[in-house]
Amino acid sequence: MEQRRILVAVTGGIAAYKVPELVRTLIRAGAVVRCAMTREASEFVSPMVLQTLTGHPVRDHLFDPSQEGEIDHISLADWAELVVLAPATANTLAKLAHGLADDLVSAVLLATRAPILAAPAMNVNMWEHPATRANLEVLRSRGVHTIGPEAGELACGWEGLGRMSQPEAIAAAAESCLAPNDLAGEVVLVSAGGTQEPVDAVRYLGNRSSGKMGFAIAAEAARRGARAVLVAGPSSLPTPAGVRRIDVGSALEMRDAMTAEFDAATIAVMAAAVADFRPSQSSQRKIKKEDLPDGAGLTLELVPNPDILAELSRTKGERTVVGFAAESHDMIEAARRKLTRKGCDLLVANDITQQASGFDSDTNTVVFVWPDGQIEQLASLPKREVAAQLLDRVMKLRGESQ
Ligand SMILES: Cc1cc2nc3c(=O)[nH]c(=O)nc-3n(C[C@H](O)[C@H](O)[C@H](O)COP(=O)(O)O)c2cc1C
Repeated sequence: MEQRRILVAVTGGIAAYKVPELVRTLIRAGAVVRCAMTREASEFVSPMVLQTLTGHPVRDHLFDPSQEGEIDHISLADWAELVVLAPATANTLAKLAHGLADDLVSAVLLATRAPILAAPAMNVNMWEHPATRANLEVLRSRGVHTIGPEAGELACGWEGLGRMSQPEAIAAAAESCLAPNDLAGEVVLVSAGGTQEPVDAVRYLGNRSSGKMGFAIAAEAARRGARAVLVAGPSSLPTPAGVRRIDVGSALEMRDAMTAEFDAATIAVMAAAVADFRPSQSSQRKIKKEDLPDGAGLTLELVPNPDILAELSRTKGERTVVGFAAESHDMIEAARRKLTRKGCDLLVANDITQQASGFDSDTNTVVFVWPDGQIEQLASLPKREVAAQLLDRVMKLRGESQ
């Protein structure tokens, strides 16, 4: 949400006390936030609090010459890339459904071309009233996004649906509303993390991949409207919203899962650090020192694992297949050779010797390597931004091949 302009429109419900937390969450996520409120909202939360948090004057009157002079209500409506209506009272939802514009918030809601995300909050009987139900139906049919309300104990003493969703959930929904929907219709299959190649009942050969890059790609694909499937090596990272996750352990398990999901995929991104070799045998029991002659070492024989990227690339047909290469030296040449050997459509190379790049880092410095040998170096970016840039390139490729 870096630098995205969000107008938080606050109306007169008790849940307005959660709005400062919502504003802080949006600002922490990088958004530029302004607030507008109804007169009733200012009974529940002070404009001064929101002005201090946003660093911008908070408008609450339509007919106040000083406020209208500062930024007029139409400019405010035009300024917003997204309007978050939180809490959304039954009253303001009804006004929007009927096109009324008799105060600042309702006028801005009617005047804006930006998407609107409403977070209704009210007494359960108000929520269930046929008038409110009909208004919501009209608003949703016109493209207004909604989140909540949640069920639980209400401030009015009643139990049931009516609580405003939590600020984090509203912020996540806001992010989805802002994302382009350019991957709708695509099925993006992503592998992530390292693999664990069993040595015995307790030991394995592994690597330092955290899975962060692959998780970021799956999250970004889902945010942009794709069906995203994540085949993840062992990782404690949370499953990103909207992503179907399949957990695997070894390279052989990863290959089975990727092959099974590949049929339905339109895009496959192999971001996992798959072990090239595995022990030729693994013991079902723990290998004990005492079972070996005194002072003797243990020799493991390693056999090659299947090359999942090459296998998928061979049968890709209309699909777009992307590989990753973690290199420690001669990065570009090694990546070009790897791309030719594997036969994928794009290779993402990263130099794991650089600080703030590669394994377990939150940032990555990558080079895109294309089949014609061209390269494109990106600056050091958060993995999420690298994921966005990668999917931009993939969609361009897919556009060109149609
Ligand atoms: C203490 C109190 C709490 C209220 N809480 C809510 C609420 O949670 N949701 C709601 O829709 N209306 C609630 N109302 C009623 C609204 O404040 C009232 O409908 C008002 O006209 C809404 O104005 P607005 O939509 O312009 O902000 C509450 C009223 C009071 C006095």
